[in-house]
Amino acid sequence: MINYAVVGVGYFGAELARIMKEQEDAQVVAVYDPENGETIAKELSCDAEASLESLVSRPDVNCVIVASPNYLHKEPVILAAKHGKNVFCEKPIALSYADCDEMVKSCEENHVIFMAGHIMNFFNGVHHAKELINEGKIGKVLYCHSARNGWEDVQESVSWKKIREKSGGHLYHHIHELDCVQFLMGGMPEEVTMEAGNVAHQGEAFGDEDDMIFITARFKDGRYAVMEWGSAFRWPEHYLLIQGTEGAIKLDMFDAGGTLKVDGKESHFLLHESKEEDEDRTRIYHGTEMDGAIQYGKPGRKPPLWLQGIMKKEMAFLNGVMHGKEVSDEYKPLLTGEAARAAIATADACTKSRMEDRKVKLSEIIG
Ligand SMILES: NC(=O)c1ccc[n+]([C@@H]2O[C@H](COP(=O)([O-])OP(=O)(O)OC[C@H]3O[C@@H](n4cnc5c(N)ncnc54)[C@H](O)[C@@H]3O)[C@@H](O)[C@H]2O)c1
Repeated sequence: MINYAVVGVGYFGAELARIMKEQEDAQVVAVYDPENGETIAKELSCDAEASLESLVSRPDVNCVIVASPNYLHKEPVILAAKHGKNVFCEKPIALSYADCDEMVKSCEENHVIFMAGHIMNFFNGVHHAKELINEGKIGKVLYCHSARNGWEDVQESVSWKKIREKSGGHLYHHIHELDCVQFLMGGMPEEVTMEAGNVAHQGEAFGDEDDMIFITARFKDGRYAVMEWGSAFRWPEHYLLIQGTEGAIKLDMFDAGGTLKVDGKESHFLLHESKEEDEDRTRIYHGTEMDGAIQYGKPGRKPPLWLQGIMKKEMAFLNGVMHGKEVSDEYKPLLTGEAARAAIATADACTKSRMEDRKVKLSEIIG
């Protein structure tokens, strides 16, 4: 039996806990959350710890799942590692490369597992796209283009997810696409440029993040990526396009599904686990439930079907690792700190480019 404890049981952490509780030989023994801890502990029939310190020092805890707000990941990760606990940390791992590096090193020094919660790795469509690339179906990958754009209306209150200091803004908070592009391109770019601005969401009713972000990235061997995010786009889009010398792949998160195009012929595959999940995602994106490119969760809200599907895969994977299950090469970077560091390094290079108004080499960040 593996015992888990969860730090932060709002929208995402509570669902991770519910899902982990259902895994084989797994139980959730404690949660810590100053606001929602008691409610979720009652629901899960586990303990609500009064402090982070008391949670990480419990002798019965084998692994700590960190799902607190982005700017509050560092302390629980390092404290858990120092107490010899294995760690799963939600994305973005940190809001700076220096913090991310410190967190990874702390886990290394204390010989504990550090899994990055980069959930796109568990999309059926992403895994299949990688397989197609590895089989040479689209030739050499020359270019990736990601877009995650929508329109944000005034909400009941301003979420921490909209405050740059707390979430990192779209680039860090929605680091999924950046991580995924790097996964498909086989590593970090050499150089990046970022332009961004808050063009339509100024004032007290909104946060202070950029609502338009445009990145160009140059990879070695003359390959490129263009990535865009934002909440100032009235025409919503969410996709990842992979262009190769022999063909192309589109992973469409909006009209959910994957398409392989070779010699003008298209073949289709699922983005998620089932047609039902893909259709449900499409329905949500075409409906009125969106808060700007994505549905922002909040405590008490339940993740949609497609998200629950990949959360289940992610927690089953973590529980497998905790039980000593062998991991395929594709997933190893999630456990070594490589994927965590690579994503934050590129995000930091992009931020530096925007602040200093120039191209930035990744070597300036990672040394
Ligand atoms: N992988 C994904 O697709 C995905 C989706 C949603 C959220 N997330 C990540 O999960 C994390 C939590 O996001 P959320 O949507 O659940 O936010 P949320 O606001 O719904 O929940 C955050 C919870 O953390 C609690 N909290 C605040 N300060 C805390 C502290 N110091 N220690 C412990 N708990 C604290 C809050 O009371 C709240 O219950 C974020 O890092 C977010 O990026 C990931």
